[in-house]
Amino acid sequence: MSFSSYKLFLALFAGATLAGCAGNGAGLDANGQPIGSSGGGTTPLTADFQSIQDHVFTPICSPCHSGASAPEGLMLDAGHSYNLLVGIPSNEVPALSRVKAGDPDNSYMVRKIQGGPGIVGGQMPLNQTPLPQATIDVIRTWIANGAPQGTATPSAAGAMAKIQSLGNSVPSTAFSVTQTSPLDNTTATSPVNCIVVAFNHEVDASLINYTTVSLERIASTPGDSADVMGGVMAPPVPSNVLPATAALAQGNPTVIVITPPAPLVTGTYRVSVRGTGGGALADINVHTLGSDYSFTFNVDVSP
Ligand code: HEC
Repeated sequence: MSFSSYKLFLALFAGATLAGCAGNGAGLDANGQPIGSSGGGTTPLTADFQSIQDHVFTPICSPCHSGASAPEGLMLDAGHSYNLLVGIPSNEVPALSRVKAGDPDNSYMVRKIQGGPGIVGGQMPLNQTPLPQATIDVIRTWIANGAPQGTATPSAAGAMAKIQSLGNSVPSTAFSVTQTSPLDNTTATSPVNCIVVAFNHEVDASLINYTTVSLERIASTPGDSADVMGGVMAPPVPSNVLPATAALAQGNPTVIVITPPAPLVTGTYRVSVRGTGGGALADINVHTLGSDYSFTFNVDVSP
């Protein structure tokens, strides 16, 4: 092999390596963007909930924060994140909401991704490279703008749908529960400071009281049916009903937050929502659930 052909071989080899690099996306995604910079695909990160979900919560946070065992009960997958963030007290520092609409500085999630003093536990994403400041700033802007669930600048189709919905005094779907936390029939392994019941429509706040929303402790040992104190068949024993408070989540009026007098300890609990009869829970268009709703969960927190 002459010297010049050796050089040519090297040049070809280098060329092939470069081509392979671009093609395989080592360090780059399918759009030639650095991996992690565009988790949501082709669009850049913008200060609206959907974009933050697609770029940050789904790819970076939900691998840990999903399912019944999500840390601190915080599920950040697309189906659950909004209603567990906006107006929901943090489990680690219950005096702060995870996201306080309009107030990024007092949103515990912002403190957790920024790091620094005033947080319990680690900076998020835990044990990974912190989010770039530019990403944190976009999240702060979304919160400062009121943390809306929809896009800030509605599309023509969205505007049309809104006009149509204003024309209809009756919502097209029946009033119903869409989400609970803890999830039904699961076991929470972090202390439960609050319980979340999310609905598909805005709830009439004036109907939230102890006759429409209740929390009972039905067993002191998870899964031990022999220990049921106030079963489904028997009328609930008053002492099992916890003097919890229930209110709409701040800035998120489709969600009811139930706060027990103290974090729930090991046991089995039932939340009931009365959807029939006089004074039943209803949405702001006076539609009741049509039937009573309840869900049960265990708490298993080793002391
Ligand atoms: C490697 C797993 C992991 C990843 C990834 C992760 N977290 Fe966490 N997160 C945890 C654990 C474990 C805790 C509880 C212990 C702690 O705070 O250090 C937690 C706690 C939290 C809390 C406190 C919740 C409360 O109610 O007090 C917030 C807020 C949070 N994470 C947000 C995020 C966000 C936002 C992301 C993505 C940018 C993220 N986390 C990514 C594991 C993770």
